[in-house]
Amino acid sequence: MTETILRMTVNGRPVEKAVSPDLRLVDFLRDTLDLTATKEGCGAGECGTCSVFVNGALVKSCLTMAMKADGADVVTLEGIARPGAMSVIQKAFHKAGASQCGYCIPGMVMAATATLRRNPNAGREEIKEGLGGNICRCTGYQKIFDAVELARDVLNGAASESALEEDGDEGAFIGANVRRIDAPSKVTGALRYAGDMTMSGMLHMHILRSDRPHARIVSLDPSRAMAIPGVEAVVTCDDVPGEDGFGVFVEDQPVLARGKVRFVGEAVAAVVAVDARTARRAAAEINLVYEDLPCVFDPEEAMQPGAPVIHEYAPDNRVKHIPLRKGNVEDGFAKSDLIVEETYTTQAIEHAYLEPEAGLAYLDHDGVMTIHSPSQNITHHRHMLSKILAMPINKVRMIMSPVGGGFGGKEDMIYQGILALAVLKTHRPVRCVFTREESILASAKRHPARIGYKMGLSREGKILASEIRMIADGGAYGCSTEGVMRKAAILAAGPYAIANVKVDTIGVYTNNTPSGAMRSFGALQAEFATESHLDMCAEKLGMDPIALRLLNAMEDGAVTHTQQKLGSVSLRRCLEEAAAAAGWEPGPSNVRGGARGDLDGPGTRAPATPGAALRARENEEKSCA
Ligand code: FES
Ligand code: FES
Repeated sequence: MTETILRMTVNGRPVEKAVSPDLRLVDFLRDTLDLTATKEGCGAGECGTCSVFVNGALVKSCLTMAMKADGADVVTLEGIARPGAMSVIQKAFHKAGASQCGYCIPGMVMAATATLRRNPNAGREEIKEGLGGNICRCTGYQKIFDAVELARDVLNGAASESALEEDGDEGAFIGANVRRIDAPSKVTGALRYAGDMTMSGMLHMHILRSDRPHARIVSLDPSRAMAIPGVEAVVTCDDVPGEDGFGVFVEDQPVLARGKVRFVGEAVAAVVAVDARTARRAAAEINLVYEDLPCVFDPEEAMQPGAPVIHEYAPDNRVKHIPLRKGNVEDGFAKSDLIVEETYTTQAIEHAYLEPEAGLAYLDHDGVMTIHSPSQNITHHRHMLSKILAMPINKVRMIMSPVGGGFGGKEDMIYQGILALAVLKTHRPVRCVFTREESILASAKRHPARIGYKMGLSREGKILASEIRMIADGGAYGCSTEGVMRKAAILAAGPYAIANVKVDTIGVYTNNTPSGAMRSFGALQAEFATESHLDMCAEKLGMDPIALRLLNAMEDGAVTHTQQKLGSVSLRRCLEEAAAAAGWEPGPSNVRGGARGDLDGPGTRAPATPGAALRARENEEKSCA
């Protein structure tokens, strides 16, 4: 495409560059001008991380063509305060602790600046409205809104500048507010995530992904891609010098598909080129021929005899089965006055961290393979890479770049091996940055699970036996499934003293996107089932759900069903304080609610969930924040 001259003022300085007319403003700012405080989280106008001012108006630069800003006055976060200094709003974010991973914060500061410029006396609701186009996945909005209110008060004179200063701790170590030492780099956008890093001579990588859930690769011809000017290499499984298999527990995943693909989104080949656009265009030119294979998407079907086999080494499609036994459940059920059986299901969940996966790899001057990536598991990744690359461990270096949100999703290795292969093949630094679509397609999700629960109880509510069977969809590769199943099994019966327990958690291979670690690591699925089941039992017994839990709560010295002796158990205190704070109205769930205005008054039947008994919050502001 013929290039056009683009002229604009950026952060007060004139800029003149020849650009392609279809270049987005975010790419122009980041790639051409190296103004990386402007982040790209979604590329679709949804997250606000790319916000900049164009002629004073706040715009999302991922949705704006660079040429549309021709002749405009553009201000990025780098131009909000003079170099090395912070604006009042940035200082307020620092003071309020309004930054965690920091990836959303540049966009938040821009949106806050726009809001307070529009109305220096903006109230909480207007501040929320002004920041409504910006998403944060980890700080929580409360501190961000607090920060904007603080900045407003300082800017309009209602508070003095000293309100932005550090709290004096007068020598205290406990109970004093301590400021995050990394906050200034986050609120100014100076912090460089892996996708912001560059090196001289750097190449860009794009991964070609499978559009088939289960297929044999008949042929792969990269010649058309290689013929495109600017393409330096096409990387395939043939480029793996060492052992081709990785995974946190079972090393079942090839770096790039070897012989067949097992899910939509699996990496098949990678193109390395002088820029990301060329790499993307060339990847589409790789000629791939598939032969489709039978698929299975339901874990229970995958365990049936005759189901399609995902991995030869596991003909029953089981990644891992964790059986736990304590006492004798049949005996417990025989002594029970009430037996309640139910099945619970949970869905796959995407982590949706704002920083998409990215990495920069290079061979350093000593021939050490060096990889910067936002990994949550760098030591394990390093060991796996050493085997894949057939390099001694002291020749592999993983450097954890700032993690722009992970929530467990960056524990499983995805692209680091491909980057290293690209470096080995080109002997040049190589960078890879996922698009949001690619991140969702390729990254592991929270395990969807089906949990069968059978509980036997005495008339008084004492749990005498619990039998739990969790079938979890592990997807196409093992990733963290084994660990997740272990944790789920350990926590499956909840924090309750039960004499007879039988637990089976089974992770199963299917042709779905792999499942992996996510906050709570398997515990959440098990606890959702346990707590839902206790509510069902309370309703059937005509008992107060909190009383049922207190009756069965573990106490100091309890031994769990995995034989761990607990020295200090605060469950009872926790439940009692939560009930008091929530205004819990005791009683069986089918008769509670008579005195409650939040449930439409007399005769309203409360659903059998503890959440339903929470009083409507008096402070609407807090509940919405
Ligand atoms: S709104 Fe532009 S990157 Fe998300
Ligand atoms: S701090 Fe907002 S996304 Fe992490």
